Amino acid sequence: MAKKILLTGDRPSGPLHIGHYFGSLVNRLAMQDDYEPYIMVADVQALTDNFNQPEKVRENVLEVAMDNIAAGIDPKKSALFIQSQIPQIAELTVFFSNLVTVNTLKRNPTVKAEIAEKRDLFGSEGESVTYGFLGYPVSQAADITIVRADIVPVGEDQLPMLELTREIVEKFHHIYDCDIFPRPQAKLSDAPRIMGLDGSSKMSKSLNNAVYLKDNPEVTAEKIRAAKTDSGSSITYDPKNRPEISNLVMLYALIHNAKPEDAVKDLAGMNYVAFKEKLATDLNHYLAPLRAKRAELEAKPHYVKELLEMGRKRVLDKAEETISLVRSAMKINY
Ligand code: TRP
Repeated sequence: MAKKILLTGDRPSGPLHIGHYFGSLVNRLAMQDDYEPYIMVADVQALTDNFNQPEKVRENVLEVAMDNIAAGIDPKKSALFIQSQIPQIAELTVFFSNLVTVNTLKRNPTVKAEIAEKRDLFGSEGESVTYGFLGYPVSQAADITIVRADIVPVGEDQLPMLELTREIVEKFHHIYDCDIFPRPQAKLSDAPRIMGLDGSSKMSKSLNNAVYLKDNPEVTAEKIRAAKTDSGSSITYDPKNRPEISNLVMLYALIHNAKPEDAVKDLAGMNYVAFKEKLATDLNHYLAPLRAKRAELEAKPHYVKELLEMGRKRVLDKAEETISLVRSAMKINY
């Protein structure tokens, strides 16, 4: 039986951190054997809010590729590729853009929240938002449908993108009287989200509150030592009332493959300082093999580029097949 097709991706706007690792990479690894996976480094999407920093996006393409491979993505099983190298995605985005109203895009909750965060780029009321940024969900629908993906592992914030993709698919099939694409389903990871080490809801580069997969052990320990906690003294798992210490317990539980409610029992009687030292040591131990693999890859950038080239070729075959079906359906197969 043919395997179902899986596509997911990351924006190369920074290297990946442990939030990405537990929230999405682990899930990705677990699905690698049972699906036909496509993993995209979404440079075109990263440019929608970094169009003025092309060197940053370029540098992070290899970083994100190396993070994925070091984490265990096997380029023989998964086609790891760069979005901009598949021009059929851009072409499909143009065709799809006729099927989506500007109002629908303006109402997308994830896009709305991002516009509000990026005042310096898009204005305090979002009055300077670009056509490209507002439209990135359309381009994301093309990312997914170009390989005719069935399943898309993502975080919760991406659910509106999947809903839009299904709407576009239905509309496309209806208007052009065809049946080319599956209705792609999101696959949410069951790992809980790790908060930033400063207590904010998300790890992110701009907040400087993340442990990167590529951080060295000293930097990692320093970040954990500096992580925000509360003025309590006992280690408990109570995310509602004691969110920061609970977040560290959660991280401890994840690296020990335990439930936080059980992990907390190991930690009884420890003070915060001792717990943080233990957490840093254990996290460094957990990440050591990944980091060793990553160091090997860093020493061989040409090898990483070859793997991306292998991925590009695999996606290209599929993308050409899809776009020719699309052109026929749209009567532009001259
Ligand atoms: N929007 C995703 C993010 O910000 C990245 C992404 C781009 C993606 N294209 C995709 C995810 C296609 C899933 C499918 O993380």
